Amino acid sequence: MIHIALPKGRLGEKAYQIFKSLGYGCPEIEQDNRKLIFVNRENDVCYFWAKPSDVSVYVERGAADIGIVGKDILLEHGSDVYELLDLGMGKCRMAVAGIRGKRPPADRTLRVATKFPNIARRYYASQSREIEIIKLNGSIEIAPLLGLSDVIVDIVETGTTLLENNLEPYETILPISARLIANKASYKFHYDEIRRISEKIQEKGI
Ligand code: PRP
Repeated sequence: MIHIALPKGRLGEKAYQIFKSLGYGCPEIEQDNRKLIFVNRENDVCYFWAKPSDVSVYVERGAADIGIVGKDILLEHGSDVYELLDLGMGKCRMAVAGIRGKRPPADRTLRVATKFPNIARRYYASQSREIEIIKLNGSIEIAPLLGLSDVIVDIVETGTTLLENNLEPYETILPISARLIANKASYKFHYDEIRRISEKIQEKGI
């Protein structure tokens, strides 16, 4: 049986449809319920919904054989997994943003609010810029508005959240998209099946 970690939400639902189209359907998961783990013995598959930022933990530790996760999470966690495929969905970018028209001060330590301290640290280290990280867990955009930080390092997808809060992107750090990942031991143990899944997804041009 292959165990698949799906990120809860729209990306996970789209990813499930891909697996279904490959013959890994699981009718129960399509029902409107609050269950989190679904087994289909006919197709020899087990799915579970995980918090998107936890998917790589389940895969890295072998609780899931494969999973779907954003590149942002992989970079932030430095996950020790195989990255098999760029799925080309869940596209967005990691960016530095701040108050519209107000460039951050260059003469003192930059206060950076973010959910992604490792990505932010690496980015500013590459620029030899001294920063102070303010780790938040969500609604990052309010930090510069309330004077908590000078800038934020966060995901920008449509740009609407920035726009509607009088913020603007200053710099793009890197593009992000969803990846198919595999546990390293599972990849050896279920090699044929995982390769088949990965190749079929690629063939379908997803
Ligand atoms: C993400 C990100 C931005 C928003 C960007 O937030 O942190 O706030 O989406 O999307 P947009 O460019 O399309 O407006 P998320 O919904 O994950 O919530 P949280 O970070 O506040 O928890």
